[in-house]
Order: sequence, then C-alpha cells, then structure tokens
Amino acid sequence: MSSDKGNKKSNTGTKMATIAVNAGRKFSDERENSAPIFLNSSYVFEDAAYGQAVFAGEVDGNIYSRFTNPSVTAFEERMAAMEGGERALATASGMSAISTVFLALLSAGDHLVISRSVFGSTLNVAHGVLEKLGIEVTPVALSDLNAWKAAIRPNTKMLFVETPANPTLEMVDLTALSALSKENGLTLVVDNVFCTPCLQQPLALGADIVVQSATKFIDGQGRVLGGAIIGAESLLMDDIFPFIRNTGPTLSSFNAWVLYKSLETLPLRMERHCSNAMKVAHFLDEHPRTRGKVHFPGLSHHPQHELAKKQMTGFGALVCVIFDTIQEAHVFIDALEMATITANLGDVRTLVTHPATTTHSRLSSEQREAAGVYDGLVRFSIGIEDAEDILADLDQALKQLG
Ligand SMILES: Cc1ncc(COP(=O)(O)O)c(C=O)c1O
Repeated sequence: MSSDKGNKKSNTGTKMATIAVNAGRKFSDERENSAPIFLNSSYVFEDAAYGQAVFAGEVDGNIYSRFTNPSVTAFEERMAAMEGGERALATASGMSAISTVFLALLSAGDHLVISRSVFGSTLNVAHGVLEKLGIEVTPVALSDLNAWKAAIRPNTKMLFVETPANPTLEMVDLTALSALSKENGLTLVVDNVFCTPCLQQPLALGADIVVQSATKFIDGQGRVLGGAIIGAESLLMDDIFPFIRNTGPTLSSFNAWVLYKSLETLPLRMERHCSNAMKVAHFLDEHPRTRGKVHFPGLSHHPQHELAKKQMTGFGALVCVIFDTIQEAHVFIDALEMATITANLGDVRTLVTHPATTTHSRLSSEQREAAGVYDGLVRFSIGIEDAEDILADLDQALKQLG
C-alpha cells in the first residue's frame, strides 16, 4: 500500500504553486519519485480476521476501488489542499459530483434554491431528477441577494451557485450569500469550475461545499472526465462518502492519476489563461464590430468588476461576445481558423462554443433567456497559445463578418 511513511520532506508549502506539486505525495515500497497508477479493483486481506476488521472500520485499509484507491486518494488530498478544504471526494465527472451532492444531502420534502444561471445539465438534474423525487426547486437570479433571501422557506436545505456563471460570467457575492446561508442553517454549494482553486476559494469565503468538474481546467488538455467534492471532513465522510461507496460514481484510478499530475501545472496554466483572456477581452472591446458586446469580469465596465476584484485573484479564461442573431454567431465561429469549435472549456487550446445551440440547447427558450444565454452569445475559453496568434485569428474572422 502506498503511504507517506519515510517521506522526510513533509513540508508541502503554503502557497498554491507549491501545494500543487507537493500535496498528496505518496510512495509505494518501490520509493518512486512520481506517483504510480494503481490499476486494480480489489485489495488482498492478509487473513480473514484482517478482512473482518477492515470491513468493520476497526483498521484503515483499502477494500475495493469503488470505495478507495491510492491513486484516487492522492488526487483527493491534493484537491482538498488546493481548495483549502479538510477533505475531497473524487467522482467520475463534474455532473456526478453535483448529482451526488444533491442526492446525498436532499430528501423528499426538502427545498433547493438554485441560481438560474448554471450549467444546463445542472438545471436539468434539478428539474428533471430532483423534482421527480419530491424535492422542490426554486431558480433565482444569481446576483440578486434579495431574491435568494425571498426564496428561502422553512423546508429549504441547500443553496447552489456557479460563480462566475456559465456562460454569462455573472457573479454573486459569496461572502454575503454564505452569511445568508449560515443565518438560515443551510448548506451552500459552489461550482468553482470557471475559477479553479487558483482564482477563487469559496470555502474561505464561507461556502460549505465546492464542486469541481476536473474535466475542464484541472485536466486542461481535453483528455479525461473527472470531478470532485470538497468540504469539511464530517459532512463529506458521514453524509456523502456512504452514497458514493454504495452507488458508485467513482473516479477511475487512471483518470485520477492524470488529474493528480495535471494539478501540478494548474497554477502556471491559469496565469497564462488569465493574461491571454484579458488581452482578448480588450481587443474585442475596442474592435468596432464587437465594441460594447463583450462580457468579461476583468473589463472595468463589467457591472460586477469590483466584486470580481474582491473575491477572485484573476478574471479567468472565459470571454463572451454577443452577436445579434444565431446566424451571425455561426458565421463568426465558422470564420475562425485556429479556435476549435467544441462543447468544452478549460483546454490549453482556445475553444469556441455557441451555447444556445449546443450546451444549453436542451433548456427551453424561456430558461435560456432567464439564464442570459442569448441566441447570439459566443463563448470563448481562451487557451495558453501566444496571444498574438489568438488575436490575429479573431481579427481575420471579424473582417469576414464585415
Ligand atoms: C460550470 C460547469 N459545471 C459542471 C460541468 C459538468 O462537468 P462534467 O462535464 O465533467 O460532468 C460543466 C461542464 O461543462 C460546467 O461547465
């Protein structure tokens, strides 16, 4: 079994870039300097009594990889350290992290208040799955604290937000929302996908749980799916771990190993994503064809620029431009020669998406309108290429629009 026994270098650092390369390091008896992959489904009990003791929880040990696996544990420890949580639990995808939190913590008769500007599948789970199970769901405008307050009822159990939101980049004041959540004894869950722990630390701002799609910036290279739930030890281990252990939305050890290694370069990549996105936002904001149509929290005229400066340490990689129609958006997207058209974000390559006809196409037009997913909205996830090449591609595509 891997352990940190014999690792005399126990200082994992205090700063994000140091924690990212040091937290969760383990050695097997082979003393390898880079984490191995534990590609196995079960573990050997040295005798029957050990099997009984480990199942009874009297001794710590691996039993079966649906419950624990050393490669997954290493990823979880690094993830927890970076988000500033006591504990992390890995899941097979971001959506399985979100669904697990809902299903493990909510019961029939409970009430969930959710931002109406969240990832399309999150809204689909809330309305399509939770409501079917007798859990009431109220969507509210993300940044409107009075709306959150007014939506809370005696049976409310959870508040769920994504900030900045996909794809509108609207934000909520997490300190104020967590104060409201605590006053009412609720669980505040924050989807931190757009920022990653490098740009925003919701737990330090008062959230109870952070969920991550590791498929996005954490992997960063479009290879694997993964997710994580981060929070206090007791909440995760008493209320969420038994659900994962029994229902099985477990992260594969191969994916955990890829993601554990990816975290090492995340702080560095996020710096470059942010500086490139800032250049793109300024370029589009100054271009005659797109002036006044750019959404990016780093622009001083963004309605929540001050909030972004207060609760984020960088403005992220997502930049949105609003064209007048679907047709215009599609012509622009097709004119790009370098940016890849895909329904993903957080890659080292610049990606472009038309949310209304892809990621948010299963929402009704009313839900899309309410979430700010306008027909002409084009979302960029700016990569880590040389900024000059990204800007040249945008420039030539805008020229083709005329
Ligand atoms: C903000 C946000 N949360 C969650 C998810 C779901 O993640 P996954 O695709 O890993 O299930 C996505 C996917 O795009 C997302 O953008």
